Amino acid sequence: MPNSLLIKKKIREFDKKISVSGDKSISIRWVLLASLASGVSKAQNLLISKDVQAAISAVRKLGIKVIVRDKFCRIYGNGLNGFKYKKNLTINAENSGTLGRLILGFLINTTNPIKLVGDQSLSKRDFKRVSDPLSKFGAIIKLKNKKNLPLVIQGSKNLKPISYLEKKGSAQCKSSVIFAGLRTKGTTIIKAKKSRNHTELMCKYLGLPVSVKSNKNYDEIKVKKVKKIKPFDYKIPSDISSSAFFIVLTVLSKNSKLVIKNVNINHSRIGVIQILKKMGADIVFKNQKTYKGENIADIQIRGGKTLNAINCPSKLNSGAIDEFLVIFLVAAKAKGISYFKDLTELNQKESPRLKWGNKILNKIGIKNIVTESTIKIYGNPNLELKKQIIIKNYLKDHRVFMTGIIAALSFGGKWEIHDKDSIKTSFPNFLNIINELKKND
Ligand code: S3P
Repeated sequence: MPNSLLIKKKIREFDKKISVSGDKSISIRWVLLASLASGVSKAQNLLISKDVQAAISAVRKLGIKVIVRDKFCRIYGNGLNGFKYKKNLTINAENSGTLGRLILGFLINTTNPIKLVGDQSLSKRDFKRVSDPLSKFGAIIKLKNKKNLPLVIQGSKNLKPISYLEKKGSAQCKSSVIFAGLRTKGTTIIKAKKSRNHTELMCKYLGLPVSVKSNKNYDEIKVKKVKKIKPFDYKIPSDISSSAFFIVLTVLSKNSKLVIKNVNINHSRIGVIQILKKMGADIVFKNQKTYKGENIADIQIRGGKTLNAINCPSKLNSGAIDEFLVIFLVAAKAKGISYFKDLTELNQKESPRLKWGNKILNKIGIKNIVTESTIKIYGNPNLELKKQIIIKNYLKDHRVFMTGIIAALSFGGKWEIHDKDSIKTSFPNFLNIINELKKND
């Protein structure tokens, strides 16, 4: 299989310092907001992956000039009315739910119908969750099967503000409505279950009319019509979701030590750290600082500590939503029975990830019981594999591929993991870093 990877050996102990690529959520938000700014914005350390390149192609299609050199990017915004809504325009969000959902908020006032398409995985995902609130603003959105891509959005010049209750804890839904609210006269009011807050922080840094009142489980967000977005430069911090694979690899590797430099540790993203620490992992933040409202730190991990099962509080779910597959690997090696609940959203990702968690655990011989929203994992601290394991047909979900690699390097066995190219969507550099950790120097 040309596009698959064979792994036959566990990783040996390592002691390294690494940097992972730029944060995907922040990279996409920067591209979109900079495209409406009045002037030139520059980014350093932009994530260069297919999802972000799809965002760049999308704004180029809307008439915005973008120059990319290495991880440096320059976007020539033409102001709030700078998009050119040509006839028969199609935007391709490819594999990116974030791009597909967020950009609809920006297109809420399009004067011509715009078609939004995606790849096979994105075409299976739910877009009703954003078309419902966006239609209330006055846009007309027609979806395939009333739920999926392709969809066609026809905006309105006469947008009305809305009141919106976001109950899923989806930052994509919340952000899409914030962006639509910014283009609408009057005050849009959002009550949103806690989720990552990069959009709110970027709006705050830019001085946009978005105010947030934080309550225990919900945020109340008020959005008014924006008058102007100033161009803004951004040094994108490293992605904690990409870091999570190496954090878990280290946690599961006896005597290993790792430092990951300059990672975004925004409170709404560190569920993985909170969960692993509760399970006994040794993880410390060093050199903490704040950058444009985001918290950043070096993450130091020491491996081989005794790991205990967790009864995971659901309030940690949204902060760890992209990391559960690797968290399940830690539960597989922990002492006792772990329990994770309220996870229906996991099956709404690039692949049905709760189902894939169950499949991977079955393949490695770990007893687990899964329902639509929960999983119980019977950990085995002596887990050691010798058998052959094949991972394939997983809708090319990048995180399934990377989880397979971490399992192979942690538990042994002979692994054949298909669709290596899947990492291009979020983390093209993943295997280079794995090789760096394998090198003994
Ligand atoms: C993201 C939000 C999350 C997450 C995704 C990125 C974002 O999705 O899973 O990878 O950048 O807003 P949901 O909003 O659907 O939970």
